[in-house]
Amino acid sequence: MLKKAFLVSAILISFVFSAFSVTYVVGTEASFPPFEYVEGGEFVGFDMDLIREIGKMYGFDVEIRDISFDSLIPSLMTGNIDIIVAGMTITEEREKVVDFTIPYYSADQSIMVRKGEDTNLTILLRKPKIGVQTGTTGDLWVTENLIDAGFLPKTNLIRYDTFNFAVRDLVNKNIDVIVLDNPVAERFTKTDPVEIVGIIKTNENYGMAVAPGNEDLLNMLNEGITKLQESGKMDDLIEKYFK
Ligand code: ARG
Repeated sequence: MLKKAFLVSAILISFVFSAFSVTYVVGTEASFPPFEYVEGGEFVGFDMDLIREIGKMYGFDVEIRDISFDSLIPSLMTGNIDIIVAGMTITEEREKVVDFTIPYYSADQSIMVRKGEDTNLTILLRKPKIGVQTGTTGDLWVTENLIDAGFLPKTNLIRYDTFNFAVRDLVNKNIDVIVLDNPVAERFTKTDPVEIVGIIKTNENYGMAVAPGNEDLLNMLNEGITKLQESGKMDDLIEKYFK
């Protein structure tokens, strides 16, 4: 009898727990190593570890969705995803529509070219074809400082959905330059025949983003980031992905 009661309550408890286990849908764009990329069919990287660690701490599961970078904020607004974790820079424009966590990483922009062609920064004066990822801060920088300022014809700016295609086009000489976040450019110099010839000091900070007013989730993510920083786990992840 006692045994049966035990069994019944065990089943009940596990049922209750599974009913309450929460899954958050995390939106990212996974051509941004070492923050998010695909390896062996899995989404891996610094950001992916970060959100999974916070999930472990607060008991939620993470389901990753890989979508184009410029669709991330619209997807958050329509409720298709719950959290953006995509090396997304906290900008004033974006803050008007979404709520960002505290910063968890900093970056500048890089001027990346093909390796071994003795290229330097003067390439920018020779009306190069420049690749960017659509809707990124790199896109914004080139648009504002080169196109709108009249230094570069509009048609010289090529917008890509993924950095994989942009890097492929650079290596194949379809474009001459990519402007992208420095930590990611650094990483591409280790995996592809590319090099960095200049840094644009943009002083960007990455944050995770949630839909406006989703305060409980935002607080939890902020607390999670802080705890990871204080426990040294954040440093471990930096060591794992950036050293
Ligand atoms: N930090 C830049 C931005 O916010 C680029 C981010 C690109 N992220 C990605 N997962 N593709 O615009």
